[in-house]
Amino acid sequence: MTSLDIREQFTIATGLRITEVFSPGQSMSALRALQNSLLRHFPQHAHVLPELDAAWREGSHDPEVIVHAWLLENEVENACGFLIFHTNLRRAMMLQHFVAMDKAMRSGLPFNWMHSLFDAALAVSEREAAVAGVRLLGSMGENDAQHMAGWRRIGYRLLDVDYHEPEHGKHWADYEELTYLTPAPMVRLTEYGSAVPLRDVATAAVSAYLLDHYLLEPDNPTVTRTLELARGLPD
Ligand SMILES: CC(C)(COP(=O)(O)OP(=O)(O)OC[C@H]1O[C@@H](n2cnc3c(N)ncnc32)[C@H](O)[C@@H]1OP(=O)(O)O)[C@@H](O)C(=O)NCCC(=O)NCCS
Repeated sequence: MTSLDIREQFTIATGLRITEVFSPGQSMSALRALQNSLLRHFPQHAHVLPELDAAWREGSHDPEVIVHAWLLENEVENACGFLIFHTNLRRAMMLQHFVAMDKAMRSGLPFNWMHSLFDAALAVSEREAAVAGVRLLGSMGENDAQHMAGWRRIGYRLLDVDYHEPEHGKHWADYEELTYLTPAPMVRLTEYGSAVPLRDVATAAVSAYLLDHYLLEPDNPTVTRTLELARGLPD
C-alpha cells in the first residue's frame, strides 16, 4: 500500500481528508492553516512556527529525519485539526509531536478516529523507513500522564525511565537554566519492534527525542541516566 492509499483509507474510515503540508509543491495556504491551528491549540508552543516555515521551504532539518505535517480537513474542506510527526531513520523510530482536533468537530467523529489517525501515521512511517532499508521499531510520544488510558487504548505503553523533556525544546541553550518537564514517555511497537528486546526500542526512542530532536549533550546527566534506565529495562 502506498502512503496515498493509507491516507485515503483513513478518509474513508473517518470522513477527514489529510493534506501533507510538507509535500513538494504544496500551497502556502495549507502551511498557514496548519500554523493557525497549532497556535489555537498550543499557544505556548509558538516557537514551532518558524520551524514549520523552514521545513516547508527547505525540507527536513536532519537528513535522517523525514518530517510530516498532516492538516486534517472536514467534508467542506475546512481545516479542523492536524498531526505533526517525524520518521527518524537513524533510530528506526517514529516520533509523534502534536495532535489536535477542534472541539466543535470532536463529538461528530467516529469514536476511534484518533486510533485510525495514529495507525495511518505509523503505517506511513513504517513504509518510508522500509524504502530507506530501515525496519521501524515503533513510535514514541511525550504524552500527558492524565490521558494515559486513552493512549493505552491506541496501543501505547509507558516506559519506566524517569523521563525528562527540556522545557524549551531544542531551544534550551537560549535560556540561562536548563529546566525540564516530565511527560509520560510512551511507545507503540511495530510487529518488528515487538520481536526485539524492549530495552532496544526504549534506547532508540529516548535517543531519538533527547539526542536527535532536542540536541541535548550525550554527557548531560539527565540524558545518561535516562539511557541507563532504558538499557536496563526488562523484556
Ligand atoms: C487530543 C485530542 C485530539 C483528542 O480528541 P478526542 O479524543 O476527540 O478528545 P475528547 O473530546 O475525548 O477530549 C476530552 C478532553 O480531554 C483532553 N484530551 C483527550 N485526549 C487527550 C490526549 N490524548 N492528550 C491530551 N488531552 C487529551 C481534551 O483536550 C479535552 O479537554 P478539553 O475539553 O479541555 O479540551 C483532542 O482532545 C485535542 O485536540 N486536544 C487539544 C490538543 C492536545 O492536547 N493534544 C494532545 C497533546 S499533543
